[in-house]
Amino acid sequence: MFKICMTDDIPEREARSFETPEGDVIFITQRDGSFYAYQNVCPHLQVELEFLENQFLDRDKEYIECSTHGALFMVESGECIMGPCQGQSLEKVAIQVHSDGGIYLADE
Ligand code: FES
Repeated sequence: MFKICMTDDIPEREARSFETPEGDVIFITQRDGSFYAYQNVCPHLQVELEFLENQFLDRDKEYIECSTHGALFMVESGECIMGPCQGQSLEKVAIQVHSDGGIYLADE
């Protein structure tokens, strides 16, 4: 099982991007003590979401935001609630938090 990072690497209401062994670029964010991971691909035009490094959240750190056209996504579900891809969703990445404090890619 591949360890992506430690929980301490991702503070509450922040996000970090990582590359998986398969070469996928993903990001993880923490909300209310839980961790959520998604492929770094906007469902609108299949581009990366962030413009600045690790800037995946909107100004209020409430939603995930695509920097290209400003689509907003729910942190917990990845669903787009505003923008050109409304109703579509980010692709979730299955992760597991283990007792060693590591965040791992879940086995398929
Ligand atoms: S490419 Fe993300 S909202 Fe258009």
